Amino acid sequence: MTGLATRGATAKVNLALSITGRRADGYHLLDSLVVFTGFGDTLQAEPAAADSLDLDGPFAGALAGSPQADNLCLKARDGLRALAAARGHEAPGVALRLTKAIPVASGVGGGSADAAAVLHLLCDLWRFTADPDDLAQLALTLGADVPMCLANRPLRASGIGEALTFVDGLPALPMVLVNPGVAVSTPSVFRALESRDNPPLPAIPRLASVRETVAWLGGTRNDLEPPARRLAPAIDGCLDAIRQTGALLARMSGSGATCFGLYAADTEAQAAAAAIASRHPDWFVTATRSLASPA
Ligand code: C5P
Repeated sequence: MTGLATRGATAKVNLALSITGRRADGYHLLDSLVVFTGFGDTLQAEPAAADSLDLDGPFAGALAGSPQADNLCLKARDGLRALAAARGHEAPGVALRLTKAIPVASGVGGGSADAAAVLHLLCDLWRFTADPDDLAQLALTLGADVPMCLANRPLRASGIGEALTFVDGLPALPMVLVNPGVAVSTPSVFRALESRDNPPLPAIPRLASVRETVAWLGGTRNDLEPPARRLAPAIDGCLDAIRQTGALLARMSGSGATCFGLYAADTEAQAAAAAIASRHPDWFVTATRSLASPA
């Protein structure tokens, strides 16, 4: 095993999300265009005599109250160790450090991205080449969004979020992420849905520019936005604040409460973030851009 390894756990944004049905076990079927951003948490892993997890960063406090055993990073570590053991591969002690920059329970996949980053990091650290299907299956046991976070590129997710089709040609999208400081419970938002049988997303054409992407997104929605806004009216304030900056599109991501605004240029996203942050100093606001499809 080698020394300290570091990996980003980037926030995901659901540019569009349709709820198309519900499975017998209560999980919802969906159809979503997902991108990952340049913004996120950071995971570090280092060989150690005993396992540990340290937390720091602006949102570490939000996790400090929960039992460590609930932390998805530890579930990912333990799951991967069990997978390695089943293949006769040694997976010794590891000291993990999570620098939490993504607001907790905020619809941009923070916990799922952390779990995916731990899987990638520990495969490297333990020099364990996991079978991709085994890894995807383990990821899904950790959460419906963990498989997409493992992929970390523009994709269309269906099933309960685990059936992934990569989307080629999508450009980087300048954006702001805004969260009003309200943690929204994902199961509550799903429970509050009025309709669960909505049409899937339209076919995704080749979207070569920000404007083409925004035009296509105009014919889509996030079906979780209306129930989330009823549960957390602060989301309305976020969407209004983003619209006031002249964003090309303002929408909520996932089950909220984080909202995103899309812009034609990074400079516009940065100016918008500065304007929103000055009016709402208690909100989480950042300018970032989504990662383009790999060439
Ligand atoms: O899989 P994960 O633990 O992230 O999901 C959290 C909760 O969100 C689930 O227990 C379920 O209530 C809801 N959910 C759902 N349909 C999905 C994903 C999540 O109903 N596709």
